[in-house]
Amino acid sequence: MAQSNGKTVLVTGGAGYIGSHCVVTLQEAGYKVIALDNFANSVDDGCDGSIALKRVEKITGEPVTFYKCDLLDTVYLERIFQNHQIDSVIHFAAMKAVGESMQYPMLYYKNNIIGMINLLEIMKKYNIYNLVFSSSCTVYGEPEKLPITEEKRIGQSITNVYGRTKFFIEEILKDVTNSDDKWNIIALRYFNPVGAHGSGLIGEDPTKQFTNLMPFISQVAMGKKEKLTIFGNDYDTPDGTGIRDYIHVMDLASGHVAALHKLEKSHIQIKAYNLGTGRGVSVLELIKTFEQTNNVKVPFTFEARRHGDISTMYADPSLAERELGWKATRSIQEMCSDFWRWQTMNPVGYKTVLTNGHNH
Ligand code: UFG
Repeated sequence: MAQSNGKTVLVTGGAGYIGSHCVVTLQEAGYKVIALDNFANSVDDGCDGSIALKRVEKITGEPVTFYKCDLLDTVYLERIFQNHQIDSVIHFAAMKAVGESMQYPMLYYKNNIIGMINLLEIMKKYNIYNLVFSSSCTVYGEPEKLPITEEKRIGQSITNVYGRTKFFIEEILKDVTNSDDKWNIIALRYFNPVGAHGSGLIGEDPTKQFTNLMPFISQVAMGKKEKLTIFGNDYDTPDGTGIRDYIHVMDLASGHVAALHKLEKSHIQIKAYNLGTGRGVSVLELIKTFEQTNNVKVPFTFEARRHGDISTMYADPSLAERELGWKATRSIQEMCSDFWRWQTMNPVGYKTVLTNGHNH
């Protein structure tokens, strides 16, 4: 059990993929965690609890106070703020599938933007001004120069609605901060989070048909899907496939603790940081590493580029290293082996009944 640091963090979207991993890291750093989630993209235990968070409790030995709550339900949301003395908020809760966002733009604008506004209003009412916001490198749009630094102007040529919700929210946060200098906000621009906690107890369990690359690779390796489709082999990259900056989800999680420490030490009003490794890896390289690390086969075919995809994106993460004292340390091999451990221990995700007869 970790030594308490006496601080309480509210984690919205705490039952989700990144949220649940972050709760582990927060508890290990001594924070008391209150989590909320509406299960839009996470798995409940049938009694309004989160299977992922029950497993987090197993990993850390610490309880997580959990509320099934939608950020659009301000009455219930406010009750949480009335019930707890909250020091800071980490806001993950949002819709995040790029393809889905193009089909249902209003759903994305309503959930992501109104959800953020509701949270900001209630935080202000309860005098809580420390906020870490989940942003994304999609706010940069098509990069002109790589690696990408935080100095690049955001909001230009964003290719999808999901990315625009993150951009609009960053702009809202700047306006809010300009209007009231009590706000102390860090926006973390994630690159491509992959991997899972080393225990294999928690990981990514996509509940939607729109999947990212690593879960898809792993489903093919499991034999659940026949083959992977690689979207485009005619990009201007060494092997023709798209390049991304894949970051281990536990490194991403520790970036949030570093951001909270920064907000506790200094009043910065608002600042954005890239959370990436600084290394670009192609689709083919990721497949090869996954195959070699896990001794599996991942058959694939090439198809046309996916609409809205960019060619290459990787971070300059040096600002986070200088100012937050944070650096990603885990390798691509670790991302592949940790993801595979989670996948093989939980072939049907959180609905898998573990060897002890429970799914949590
Ligand atoms: N890809 C394939 N086949 C697949 C899935 C993906 O070839 O079945 C390729 C994509 O074309 C891209 C790379 O794998 O080159 C990564 O694709 P992902 O869908 O895993 O990730 P994206 O980079 O498109 O998007 C992710 C998140 C977003 C986030 C964005 C930031 O899904 O939420 O990173 O770059 F905003």
